[in-house]
Amino acid sequence: MKVQVSYYSRGGNTKRLAEALASELKVEALDISKGVTEPVDVLFLGNSMYAFTVDKNVKEFVKNLDPNLVKEVVVFSCSASDTSTVKKVAKLLKDKEIKVSDKYFSVPGEFLKLNKGRPNKEDCKAIAKFGREFVEGN
Ligand SMILES: Cc1cc2nc3c(=O)[nH]c(=O)nc-3n(C[C@H](O)[C@H](O)[C@H](O)COP(=O)(O)O)c2cc1C
Repeated sequence: MKVQVSYYSRGGNTKRLAEALASELKVEALDISKGVTEPVDVLFLGNSMYAFTVDKNVKEFVKNLDPNLVKEVVVFSCSASDTSTVKKVAKLLKDKEIKVSDKYFSVPGEFLKLNKGRPNKEDCKAIAKFGREFVEGN
């Protein structure tokens, strides 16, 4: 099974999760600017919320995504509040008729005085487990 891990991260929190996941799946965590250039069975897409919305780079990434190259997307995030971008990104993907898994991964991310140290080691272990189980179950 061909797997890709792509992420958008301004401050490094989402990148930390992406790298833990990618390391578990023995692939490289790719900044979304690299796009998707080869067919993949599962694309894990990491992003978080900024000013109550999805970053324009993430919107652009989805806009440019070739539905023929991606069988299924799994979204992960670490926004500060529990209002994550998971549903918003899933909608953008579904609008392009790209399959989005009902399974997703979301933990709180550090922001100002909130969620100090998150995502932490346990969060990184949790996303690695989530990714491994997702791939094994497919
Ligand atoms: C400029 C800015 C705006 C943010 N706005 C929100 C927001 O509206 N809702 C929220 O839940 N988190 C918000 N956050 C918190 C981020 O989603 C959180 O810190 C996340 O972990 C950042 O991921 P990153 O380090 O990968 O960029 C904001 C963070 C920044 C820097």
